[in-house]
Amino acid sequence: MNIAATPSTALIDKYGRHIDYVRLSVTDRCDFRCVYCMSEKMTFLPRNQVLSLEEIFKVAQVFNQLGVRKIRLTGGEPLVRSNILSLVQNIGKLPNLDELLITTNGSHLEQMSADLKAAGVTRINISLDSLNAATFREMTRTGDLAQVLRGIEAAKARNFKALRLNAVILKGRNDHEILDLVHYAMQLGINIAFIEEMPLGEVTEHDRLETSCSNDEVRRVIESAHNLTPLDMKTAGPSRYYQLEGSESRVGFISPVSHNFCESCNRVRMTVEGRLLLCLGNEHSVDLRSVLREHPDDVHLLQETIRNAMDIKPLRHYFYEKDAPQVVRFMNMTGG
Ligand code: GTP
Ligand code: 5AD
Ligand code: SF4
Repeated sequence: MNIAATPSTALIDKYGRHIDYVRLSVTDRCDFRCVYCMSEKMTFLPRNQVLSLEEIFKVAQVFNQLGVRKIRLTGGEPLVRSNILSLVQNIGKLPNLDELLITTNGSHLEQMSADLKAAGVTRINISLDSLNAATFREMTRTGDLAQVLRGIEAAKARNFKALRLNAVILKGRNDHEILDLVHYAMQLGINIAFIEEMPLGEVTEHDRLETSCSNDEVRRVIESAHNLTPLDMKTAGPSRYYQLEGSESRVGFISPVSHNFCESCNRVRMTVEGRLLLCLGNEHSVDLRSVLREHPDDVHLLQETIRNAMDIKPLRHYFYEKDAPQVVRFMNMTGG
C-alpha cells in the first residue's frame, strides 16, 4: 500500500471540515465500570465481531494515507487488549503521523508506560475523577485509586510530551473535589481537563439532568482560588485551554453540553466492531468490517469507503435538546 495523501484524497466532509484526527477503539472491555460510562452488568462483544489487531492496523494505515495526522487509541480500556503493544508499535512507525495518543483509565500504566513511550506514544490522557479512594471506587465501581495514581506517576517519570487528567464532574459525587484534582495536576506539572457528562447509553445510578455540572460552574470554582488565562493552544481535541497562573499546568474544558463545538469538528472514530462512526453524538456510521473481511486485499475499496463516509458526517450533536435522538451506545463502545 503506498497511496500518498494528496489534496484530492484528503478527508473533507460536506460542511468543509477537514478530518485529520481518528480515534480507534481497540476493545469494548474495561476493568472499570464507571457510572457515567457503562451499566453495572455489561455484556461485551463476542470475539468474532471484534476486529483483529491486524485489521485495526490496516484501517490506521489507510487513514494515515488519507492525511490523518493524529491517531488516538481508546477503549473501553485500550491497555486491557492483549498484545496491544504490537499495534501501538506498528502505528508508531507510520509515516506522516504527528501524534499517537492514548486515552486510558491508568490501571495498567505502571507496567506499560515505558513500552508505550518507546513505541512512539506522544501524549496520554488518563481518567481521574476523585482522589478519595472510596469515592473513586464508587464512581468506577471496581477501580483502585492507589493503582491508578501509581500509573499516573509512572507515566510522569517517562517524560511524555504531555499528560492530561480527564475528570467528569457529577453533582453530589465529586463536585467538592474540583480544586483537589487541580492541585494534584499542578503538583505533578501535568494538565487536567474537565468533561461534561454526555447522554450516551442509559445509565442506572443517577439522573443525568440532576447530576450534570456545567463547565462554567467548574471554572468558577477554580477561579475562586486561581487565575486562569485563556490560551490559543489547540490540540486535535475539543478542549478549550487555560493557563493556571504560577504553574506549568493547564486546565482544559470540554463542554459538549453547554457549548457546542461541532462546527470545528476534525475527527471520526471507529468502534472495535469496525463501525466507522461519523459523530460521537449520532448513530451515522459505515461498516468497515465487512469491507475488511470480504475484500481483505482491496485497499482502494477501504480508502473509497472511508472517503465516501465523510458525506454522511452530521453537522452536530443534539444532546438534551428537544426531540434529540437518544444515542443507545454506551461510551465504552466508542471510547469517547
Ligand atoms: P486531546 O488530543 O488531548 O485534546 O484529546 P481529546 O480531548 O480529543 O481526547 P480524550 O480521549 O481525552 O477525550 C476527552 C473527552 O472529550 C471524552 O469525554 C470524549 O468523549 C470527548 N470528545 C472527544 N471528541 C469529541 C467529539 O467529537 N464530540 C464530543 N461531544 N466529545 C468529544
Ligand atoms: N460523558 C462524558 N465523558 C465520558 N467519559 C466516559 N463516559 C462519558 C460520558 N458519558 C470519559 C471518560 C474518559 C473519556 C474517554 O471519556 O472519563 O476520560
Ligand atoms: Fe472503563 Fe473508561 Fe468507561 Fe471508565 S470511562 S468504564 S475507565 S471505558
